[in-house]
Amino acid sequence: MLIALFPGDGIGPEVIAEARRVLDALDLPGLTYEEGLVGGAAYKAKGHPLPPETLDIAERCNAILFGAVGDFDCDNLERHLRPEQAILGLRKALGLFANLRPATLFKELADASALRPEVATQIDMVIVRELNGDVYFGEKGMRTTADGKREGYDVMSYNEDEVRRIARVGFETARARKGRLCSVDKANVLETSQLWRDVMIETHKDYPDIELSHMYVDNAAMQLVRNPGQFDVIVTGNLFGDILSDQASMCAGSIGMLPSASLDTNQKGLYEPIHGSAPDIAGQGKANPLATILSAAMMLRYSLNMPEPADRIEAAVAKALEGGARTPDLGGSMTTQQMGDAVLAVL
Ligand code: IPM
Ligand code: MG
Repeated sequence: MLIALFPGDGIGPEVIAEARRVLDALDLPGLTYEEGLVGGAAYKAKGHPLPPETLDIAERCNAILFGAVGDFDCDNLERHLRPEQAILGLRKALGLFANLRPATLFKELADASALRPEVATQIDMVIVRELNGDVYFGEKGMRTTADGKREGYDVMSYNEDEVRRIARVGFETARARKGRLCSVDKANVLETSQLWRDVMIETHKDYPDIELSHMYVDNAAMQLVRNPGQFDVIVTGNLFGDILSDQASMCAGSIGMLPSASLDTNQKGLYEPIHGSAPDIAGQGKANPLATILSAAMMLRYSLNMPEPADRIEAAVAKALEGGARTPDLGGSMTTQQMGDAVLAVL
């Protein structure tokens, strides 16, 4: 089985290196690795954030472990050449439409949460975010209005098939957990959301065992910090899911802790920490590698059908935290590599 490693920009290479050390330590039979350039790193070397060589590896592999993209140097490039296009391009080219972002709090980190410990410890949810549509991929551009003013626009839309397939992932995810699905939209204002809600209600007929509720996104943002324990699975669109998952991560201790999986219809997936490239701390050994290490665990579980080593990684992370391992984002002073060492020591 071929695993593609795409470290990307900023802290990406540092955190991917630690995940690779953990995978190597497990000594899993039959795994091979191929590295590819993405993001600003790829633009600088090859003139494109997602060069054909990289796309070729992505198409051939069984799973992708992805670091992060984003580089201040590239912020003034035309949009199609910016680092972010690498991840957006991979999601689209490979049809990775279902983004699973679990947010759970390791109990040792209750103090690192932005919330009071007794509220934070209740968090145990999965955000299911649609990744191939919405305002991310609609028509967009800059134009000049009749009175000579500049105007930017991005069209938000979903068709019913796109909503139905992510609805099914949401219901299935809830079925494997506590059986509660909360669909988040803005149906009081947006037609896109009205269709979203209608299709959620229709699809619910196939999942009568699941409890479906609906929440407006502004209320969901508020409820996430007021009482995150009320959520089991949230299903939402691309833009709302982007925002709510960052928010959930801080409730769960640190954005440096949360992994994610982006899946197609055949369990092929791209696995990445939900944090970005953090160029401000790149190369300083300050990044927390645990979100990437936990992403590698998700990769073993979902795309490579290796649940036991996935469990071992997750248990080792918990043990390392129990033993007091902390990078700066968790209020400690360990380096990226020392955190990797702490996980390896348990393994
Ligand atoms: C994420 C990121 C990306 C997104 C960026 C890097 C394009 O924020 O994966 O959440 O907006 O989807
Ligand atoms: Mg984001």
